[in-house]
Amino acid sequence: MYTALQTAHSVFAYIVLAVLFFAAVNAISGLVSKRFFAAKDLRISLFAMILSHMQLLIGFILYFVSPLGFDALGNMGDKDLRLTSLEHPLINIIALAVITIGWSKHKKEESHNGKYKKIAVFYTIGLVLILSRLPWASWFN
Ligand code: HEM
Repeated sequence: MYTALQTAHSVFAYIVLAVLFFAAVNAISGLVSKRFFAAKDLRISLFAMILSHMQLLIGFILYFVSPLGFDALGNMGDKDLRLTSLEHPLINIIALAVITIGWSKHKKEESHNGKYKKIAVFYTIGLVLILSRLPWASWFN
């Protein structure tokens, strides 16, 4: 169970980060080129949000079966354990909240430019937050 979840969370991370990056770049390019916000733009942004929520869900379950998650909360002196048991989960939850706020704010926008702007700003902030607290060392080992 633990190994399967850890592998799923690790492999899925590549897909989530790639799709989030693509959605943010797509919104920035739409904003800069003043394109219409088309159905495909909505689908890209929605897809990125759904995939990141799936990763969040896998992360929540993993948190309670991994020795590096909840069980490691007492070891805050160890910076690697502090990262996986506190900083990574907390910052990722905040990042997903930011992305979700961006998604809901874009829906309330009337203008094409306004929609792109909300996705561009909120998804980019979310992505930067996620990247700032990834356990890079264990991921590439
Ligand atoms: C979009 C959000 C997230 C991304 C992209 C992400 C990505 C990653 C990556 C790349 C790793 C390293 C995997 C490895 O060592 O092979 C990892 C580990 C971990 N993540 Fe996440 N994560 C996210 C959200 C979360 C959340 C919300 C939680 C908990 C509530 C969480 C809990 C964990 C735990 C406990 C580990 C250590 C697992 C272990 O090696 O035992 N993650 N995550």
